[in-house]
Amino acid sequence: MAEKIGKIVLSYSGGLDTSIILKWLQETYQCEVVTFTADLGQDEELEPARAKAERLGVRDIRIVDVREEFVRDFVFPMFRANTLYEGQYLLGSSIARPLIAKHLVNIANEVGADAIAHGATGKGNDQVRFELAANALDPSLRIIAPWREWDIQSRTQLIEYAERHQIAIPRDKRGEAPFSIDANLLHTSTEGKILEDPSVIAPPHVYQRTADPRHAPDEPETIVICFEKGDAVSVNGRALTPAALLTELNRLGGRHGIGRVDLVENRFVGMKSRGVYETPGGTILLAAHRGIESITLDRGAAHLKDEIMPRYAALIYNGLWFSPEREMLQALIDHSQTHVSGEVTLSLYKGSATVIARSSPGSLYQMDLVTFEEGSGAYDHHDAEGFIKLNGLRLKSWAARNSRARSDRREPDPV
Ligand code: ARG
Repeated sequence: MAEKIGKIVLSYSGGLDTSIILKWLQETYQCEVVTFTADLGQDEELEPARAKAERLGVRDIRIVDVREEFVRDFVFPMFRANTLYEGQYLLGSSIARPLIAKHLVNIANEVGADAIAHGATGKGNDQVRFELAANALDPSLRIIAPWREWDIQSRTQLIEYAERHQIAIPRDKRGEAPFSIDANLLHTSTEGKILEDPSVIAPPHVYQRTADPRHAPDEPETIVICFEKGDAVSVNGRALTPAALLTELNRLGGRHGIGRVDLVENRFVGMKSRGVYETPGGTILLAAHRGIESITLDRGAAHLKDEIMPRYAALIYNGLWFSPEREMLQALIDHSQTHVSGEVTLSLYKGSATVIARSSPGSLYQMDLVTFEEGSGAYDHHDAEGFIKLNGLRLKSWAARNSRARSDRREPDPV
């Protein structure tokens, strides 16, 4: 007999898995379940989720458009740090989880629920992210993770459960489930099935939102992105809200086959996993942001940012968005963006987004300093001589010791 729970708020996509979870929660805990479906720009009709939840007897159905909040409060702050996990992953799933958890917790508090539930499996990172975020936001809430609690062990048993409870099963879900897909405005992530073998090349149909770079337009497209204090604010002179801006970059990047990554990552829960990611707009944004930072950030500031970035990325990957250390790093990152404003021109062409020009009212770039022509006199070539001499001093000591050691051993020099 399950413990007594009064009301549960479930993160509900309307898909087969969460529909089964909904039914299972109602049966197991004999209580009201409120559903929360987030419109994160996953490009999926969300109204069918309402109809399905209604059919399963849910009275309080929440479908919320969180696209602006997602990009403004989660994606943009993360992009200020040029965040990449393990050098390649733009964290499209990782950054959406704390937002979903925040809404689940808020709804739970509003409706007086004592638990929240999610459909993440017991093997992935997402369970950790939902639950650590919920712990940080409301430690009193109970969290139910059906995949870790029920005795459904396989896809087949899941289908049987659905059949027993008259839950509609889409045709393609009866046989082999295709892939595990997670999509939002930032990315589409595809895992599982044939992709589980990292030695197998991903078939073309894995890619959903980017053109094959070989079939992308033969002409490069030039675009201009404007930044204000580290955040992109316009594309080609058109001011756009954060979500509209990312949508536009996704359209441009998708057309030019930008942002495909096929990688093996180290999950927080211990295993390696292979994933295929498509992050068209995000890939353009990252290149552009690095472009504007290249002229507006001092070297010391830029290098410090680059040092802490992997740490910051791991925090987000590991589900620690709501944590004191992430907030501390965020304060540092946000402070660094004070002068990160200006314009970046990029060329989009067959899978790549290349910065080709940049300018800023707060630029630190001094043409008279760097010029190969005669400069302003602020830089004295003679200073360089002493600078190199002092830097070379220790290298000379090192080289002298090496040559003494070689002669002591009386070994012939390698040819
Ligand atoms: N491995 C990625 C991460 O941990 C994506 C997880 C969700 N994606 C999925 N296809 N189920 O962030």
